[in-house]
Amino acid sequence: MSFPKGFLWGGAVAANQCEGAYLEDGKGLSVPDMLLGGDVNTPRTFLPKTDKTAFYPSHEAIDFYHHYAEDIALFAEMGWNVFRLSINWGRIFPNGDDETPNEEGLAFYDKVFDECKKHNIEPLVTLCHYEIPWNIVTKYNGFSDRRVIDMFVKYATTCMKRYKDKVKYWLTFNEINIACMGEGGLGDLYGLGIMDPEDVNSDERIPLNKLKSNPQKTFEALHNQFVASALVVTEGHKINPDFMIGNMIAHTTLYPLTPNPKDILAAFNEDNFKNNFCGDVQVRGEYPTYMFRYFKDHGIDTSFITEEDKKIIKEGVIDFYTFSYYMSNCVTVDENAEKTNGNLATGAKNPYLKASDWGWQIDPDGLRYTLNILHDRYPHTPLMVVENGFGAFDKVEEDGSVHDTYRIDYFRDHIKAMDEAIEDGVPLIGYTTWGPIDLVSAGTGQYAKRYGFIYVDRHDDGTGDFSRSKKDSFYWYKKVCESNGADL
Ligand code: BG6
Repeated sequence: MSFPKGFLWGGAVAANQCEGAYLEDGKGLSVPDMLLGGDVNTPRTFLPKTDKTAFYPSHEAIDFYHHYAEDIALFAEMGWNVFRLSINWGRIFPNGDDETPNEEGLAFYDKVFDECKKHNIEPLVTLCHYEIPWNIVTKYNGFSDRRVIDMFVKYATTCMKRYKDKVKYWLTFNEINIACMGEGGLGDLYGLGIMDPEDVNSDERIPLNKLKSNPQKTFEALHNQFVASALVVTEGHKINPDFMIGNMIAHTTLYPLTPNPKDILAAFNEDNFKNNFCGDVQVRGEYPTYMFRYFKDHGIDTSFITEEDKKIIKEGVIDFYTFSYYMSNCVTVDENAEKTNGNLATGAKNPYLKASDWGWQIDPDGLRYTLNILHDRYPHTPLMVVENGFGAFDKVEEDGSVHDTYRIDYFRDHIKAMDEAIEDGVPLIGYTTWGPIDLVSAGTGQYAKRYGFIYVDRHDDGTGDFSRSKKDSFYWYKKVCESNGADL
């Protein structure tokens, strides 16, 4: 076994998918509060006017807001030394543009971090995990407005100052490259808080993949996020030079479907655009040349990349690179090739791989390959896998147990792949599994798509008493963490 001493083992959640309490203690509405649920065949819909008869899964989620002490104790029981969570921007600045922060929101995360400390768990905090305050969407059209850069920096530095002795590891934006993925305006809304005024004012439910999108605005807003992220890295290091501040990329590994050079080139280009572009900016501190070809081909005016912004981006390069890894997909120029279903990350089906019930192709070798590719690309940057997991339907037996061997198999194979990558020489510093406790799915809004080691009694029809219980995988992951990856 090659996991180094001090390797970080734990799990990852996002505030909007677990906390609930969506208007408690002064919190303002944020993007996920406006979304209804869907399922594997039905996209989530957006409903701007909160409808009392509709079920918004994130409003109560799994009520982590009131269960955090119990949940963190369960995480500690598994032997974790890291817990990735997000701060919900709207708890700290309910409208995004408020003069002063909301003390009750700040106090909540004090309690959460103190609880982590009690159990010797290091928090890893995402500052924005698809949680842009709703007011920023309606009043500023999200990050397309440069004033939102200052709002984000103010929010981030408020958190960093407040928790400077409690939190060392920070991530700026979750899956910042979501803007380059997905159909229609989905990435725009989730990642950038951009929404066409006609959609904002609609009385109809709009499927997320049908939201209108304007690529010029998307790239301007994404650029503003690069600037905001870089400023937070620079300011954060002034607040505490020991801070480790990272980025976060959704990495869906892409292979050419066939040896046809046209497929090779298509996969290469798609990989650069979807997987590499944002990381290249945040690690190397400049836009990669291939993006200027892309911008030219797609008629994007790049005058928003000013000399001043280039300097900011160069100065604010990240300390470590983190990413989510769930699956791989294939790329082909053949329009008739069979497609996978991956919510955001669709592609051609790989005949060698099995998939989950949601069509996500299971590929542990792809994780080893990806870690090596990333290390080769960014040889001086530590890497961390901050999301990986298996969404599945779980069956609760009469005695309350859940025999989730499929989940254990998925994790075992991916942890073995990380072990191999470390043997290969990759500087991997940690691993947080996605959804260690069942929570609301971001892609479909379902509770039924369960990821947890811990089962939560909560269902898509709004029933359930929120009680927690341990699945078989709980005991298995406990062995893994306690043996530093030796006992799989
Ligand atoms: C990542 C997100 O894309 O994938 C998480 O960062 C999300 O927020 C996770 O929950 C799994 O996706 P899903 O759609 O199964 O919840």
